[in-house]
Amino acid sequence: MAQYDRKDTYYRAAKRQGFVARSIYKLEEIDQSFKLIPPKAHVLDLGCAPGSWLQYVEKKVGKSGGRAVGIDLAPLAMTFGPHVEFIQGDVFEVPIPEGSFDVVLSDMAPKTCGIKSVDQDRSMALCEQALDIATRVLKPGGNFCVKVLEGGGVPEFVKTCREHFKQVKIRRPKSTRSRSMETFIIGLGFQSS
Ligand SMILES: C[S@@+](CC[C@H](N)C(=O)[O-])C[C@H]1O[C@@H](n2cnc3c(N)ncnc32)[C@H](O)[C@@H]1O
Repeated sequence: MAQYDRKDTYYRAAKRQGFVARSIYKLEEIDQSFKLIPPKAHVLDLGCAPGSWLQYVEKKVGKSGGRAVGIDLAPLAMTFGPHVEFIQGDVFEVPIPEGSFDVVLSDMAPKTCGIKSVDQDRSMALCEQALDIATRVLKPGGNFCVKVLEGGGVPEFVKTCREHFKQVKIRRPKSTRSRSMETFIIGLGFQSS
């Protein structure tokens, strides 16, 4: 098996560019491919710690009047400016912020135990919660991006996403590690029922 290189090209690029995690490049690729985050967007970022997606969003929308709210069990690794709000807590428990959003992101990952089916079930529970929140807070036409672990209930989950969005795309970004089971489901154009 190829040796796992923790400090790979993306890790080093993130360090060099001042991002707190290499995950930034996954969001950047998805945003550039699908115009996920429009200028001035109000963005809800579920599972936002340590904060690289929030850094990307802050840079992209902060100056044009956009804003971001991030939620995570863990604290952030850095502080942000006035356009970013952080709520520390569990997405199954914290009150979801008032107001409506243009984009809901979820890079949430469960604590894994190594038993594939258990990890997939835990991941799917987070995805379903993210979709449930998205359908409550997204403006019509809004976008959604959620990380899933391949296998398990993913085909059914994609089917449910298709009921809520005009288009649903699936993307495994270049910066995803080769041994990772993750992939991203992107819902474009929320249609409220
Ligand atoms: C891969 S990290 C996210 C990285 C982040 N997108 C970034 O760019 O810095 C996954 C995060 O999901 C969070 N998470 C897992 N379960 C959660 C839950 N129930 N509620 C809130 N956050 C959760 C974890 O605490 C962890 O920080």
